[in-house]
Amino acid sequence: MGLRLDKFLGDHNIGTRKQIKEYVKNGRCSVNGVPALKPDVHIDESNDEISFDGKVLSYSKYHYYMLNKPVGVVSATTDKKQETVIDILKEENVKGLNPCGRLDIDTEGLLLLTDDGELIHRLLSPKKHVDKTYEVHIKYALSESDIKRLEEGVDIGDKNDDGSKKLTLPAKVCINEDIINDENDNPVILLTICEGRFHQVKRMLEAVGNEVMFLKRLSMGPLLLDPNLNPGEYRELTNEEKRALNIDIK
Ligand code: URA
Repeated sequence: MGLRLDKFLGDHNIGTRKQIKEYVKNGRCSVNGVPALKPDVHIDESNDEISFDGKVLSYSKYHYYMLNKPVGVVSATTDKKQETVIDILKEENVKGLNPCGRLDIDTEGLLLLTDDGELIHRLLSPKKHVDKTYEVHIKYALSESDIKRLEEGVDIGDKNDDGSKKLTLPAKVCINEDIINDENDNPVILLTICEGRFHQVKRMLEAVGNEVMFLKRLSMGPLLLDPNLNPGEYRELTNEEKRALNIDIK
């Protein structure tokens, strides 16, 4: 049966239902190179080539963006006072976008934004243990025993249901070969964790008597922060990235 053309165009944020009707009537949309003059015509979204103003539209039910979150912006959909990550993408005009997880206001780096709730659930579910790697600028160099403790699990004050200490799950600490110390002479490490507890990285470093001076997320599961994105810049995920995240691409 396929999908109605106006629905397909709506999913691409071409305009409101009323505008789309008008655009189609004006011959701005083609199906397999032939102008489609009826908005309610059914198309086969996996085989037909749909174009609008000469530009081919690929069908995607959901939208996926990689943002290099800048410091000073909150990972929320709305906020009365602060700019949100959703404000940065407002020109995309996509309804229902949500950040996949939260970065603190003073944290920079990789944030996935999508309207695909199933993917968000899959990446954030505590049962899935998705790895997240952070570049962590710290106040003091780590000792061998600090590294061992961070890797084995530390007490960050959380409790299990029975009241016992809920240590962090095993993590990985790497010394960053590219930057040993930052411009302020703070040591820089890479820390990979598979949980997403509140302020987790900061609290883990605190647990070993250290302090996070700057934090940047570099990866989440198979998704790596694009080094070409400056803080505040974003782009759509590539098909390769979508495939790595097991997103169904037509
Ligand atoms: N851990 C933190 O402490 N802050 C973040 O923003 C992310 C992980």
